[in-house]
Amino acid sequence: MNFQAAQARIKELTDLVNHHNDLYYNKSKSTISDFEFDQLLKDLIEIENQFPELKSPDSPTQRVGGTITKEFENVTHQYPMLSLGNTYSKEELEDFNGRVAKGLEGEAYEYFCELKFDGVSISLIYENGLLVKGITRGDGVRGDNVIANVKTIRSLPLRITSEQTPIFFEVRGEVFLSKEIFKQLNKEQEEDGEEAYANARNTASGTLKMQDSSEVAKRKLDCYLYYLLGENLSVQTHEEAIHKIESWGFQVSPTYKKCTTIAEVIKYISYWEKERTNLPLETDGVVIKVNNLDQQKRLGTTAKVPRWAISYKYKAESISTKLNGITYQVGRTGAVTPVAELEPVLLAGTTVKRASLHNANEIARLGLHIGDSVFVEKGGEIIPKVTGVDLLQRDPNSVSVSYISNCPECGTELVRKEGEANHYCPNERGCPPQIKGKVEHFIQRKAMDIDSLGEQTIKQLFDLRLVKTPADLYDLKKEDLLKLDKIKEKSAQNMLAGIEASKSVPFESVLFAIGIRFVGKTVAEKLAHYFKSMDQLAAASYEQLLNAPEVGEKIAASVVQYFSEDRNVEEVSRLKSAGLQMETSQQEPTQLSSKLAEKSFVVSGIFENYERDQLKEIILANGGRILSAVSGKLDYLLAGENSGASKLEKAEKLGIKVITIQEFESLLN
Ligand code: IVH
Repeated sequence: MNFQAAQARIKELTDLVNHHNDLYYNKSKSTISDFEFDQLLKDLIEIENQFPELKSPDSPTQRVGGTITKEFENVTHQYPMLSLGNTYSKEELEDFNGRVAKGLEGEAYEYFCELKFDGVSISLIYENGLLVKGITRGDGVRGDNVIANVKTIRSLPLRITSEQTPIFFEVRGEVFLSKEIFKQLNKEQEEDGEEAYANARNTASGTLKMQDSSEVAKRKLDCYLYYLLGENLSVQTHEEAIHKIESWGFQVSPTYKKCTTIAEVIKYISYWEKERTNLPLETDGVVIKVNNLDQQKRLGTTAKVPRWAISYKYKAESISTKLNGITYQVGRTGAVTPVAELEPVLLAGTTVKRASLHNANEIARLGLHIGDSVFVEKGGEIIPKVTGVDLLQRDPNSVSVSYISNCPECGTELVRKEGEANHYCPNERGCPPQIKGKVEHFIQRKAMDIDSLGEQTIKQLFDLRLVKTPADLYDLKKEDLLKLDKIKEKSAQNMLAGIEASKSVPFESVLFAIGIRFVGKTVAEKLAHYFKSMDQLAAASYEQLLNAPEVGEKIAASVVQYFSEDRNVEEVSRLKSAGLQMETSQQEPTQLSSKLAEKSFVVSGIFENYERDQLKEIILANGGRILSAVSGKLDYLLAGENSGASKLEKAEKLGIKVITIQEFESLLN
């Protein structure tokens, strides 16, 4: 493809992707499948990689990330980001109203009420219609520019096409993870054997500060806007400003309401107190703003908060109940979670009987005694939590809780690894919930997809000592299955057919199914793609693993550890004999050219416009080879920012050519 053709195709693809994005996010419609959409994006990425000079800052490919930012630029806010005064009662709200009335000296005024979204505030700077900065609140005066991460938020316009936008303006809003996405994220954490995130707000905040924007893109952050700033915006009220940003394509929560009296404000507050549970994101209160901008200006601000706005915070519903005892759950990975068993109590519409206590530190922090009267709260967290003890009610004869030292399921002594908060049961192959958990993990849809088996069947197969590891499933005979409760000929046949069908499940699913710690579905896909077969993966060294995309020290160490254990090697070999897919059937990446034929590369460091994996793919697609370490055989060390000092030294010593990204690009063109 020549330059001109590329330019035309980029324009065409960009328009198409933007069109479908707009349909999906702003009009809740989709006229193509996710696959077709991804394909368009992929085509666009490919051409942009070939012609990096044609990549525009508002290209929809920015949504999938790829930029790595080691250190965010710290910038001063054009207008300081103030916080809001809080109120917790009708009386405090009346006081606020009194101050506003007094400040406006008897003039009529209106309020604009919005919900207080429980996320992370962000300031977005647009210049000439183009999104150029996304700044965190920081200390209110200066914040971090996390623009690459902000661009992954699909509902945010990267460019405003409306003709009436000012040359410069700023919009502020709240970045959040919706309840649904957060739940999904935690489900994945659990499936990967990782600890669940405690709440959506902190997770959104952590996500916004991640260095790798392609990881951020996967988290699916979202954003509601609620504030427009700038000069000569030709709006007289906050309401007009909100309608304006809506018309420019920004996402505004439709929950706002203009109120003329404080009684109406209070009605709004009461309405949303219950109704907010049905919203897609967490909210923790209401923000009440004086609607007229001129009045806002006259009321002014104190050093920290505006005098023209205030928040009303909903009380996190809290209740006290009796702690009947503590039980301990053992998960698939052996992690032990203490659970508070409570006297059932009604809280925020549901009966609460249990609450997570997280780990031993949390129990110690709370200083729990069995029989204590404890406070239970349901805030942003999904699972209710114990927030404190009512010491006045404590029975002086009660005993304090001491953490168990042995596994409640198999009696093995628990271990606690340095730096980890959780206790673990190390008896991986003999501890019933771990054994059953591993088989359940193996058969799940994302793994071997054997839906003719379920939790109950696995339990019975385990109780009858027919299945102790996933490989045992492939030795099952019809007679074995007929021993199960209520299982007749037909269901037995169904089960066997399901097990048989799993033999054609692709290698990456098999790799995920065997349950190597920290190897979730995405990592399994990357590993399968990179190493091509189980044998090559098993033979890979720690360093070679680190070279694979998405693999960091934790995952590399875990893979090495897995294949160093004989019982795992034996299990994998039994699965192989059973006929499972142990190699990838994926096509080699399409060959773009042979410009780098016979040339070998090591890629090191961070690159402004490329992800390291992306560079490796470009090298392979142009006929080059990737080596894992600098040696005499190497042709080029492609060095970005912060590339390893030892690699550079070694290259120099061996007389290996060290090239910059610009030099690399000129090799290709
Ligand atoms: S307006 C000067 N509106 O609450 C007023 N803030 O406690 C600027 N927040 O930092 C804020 N929802 O992150 C406003 N509808 C809303 C909001 C909202 C959530 C957050 C925002 C701010 C914090 C202040």
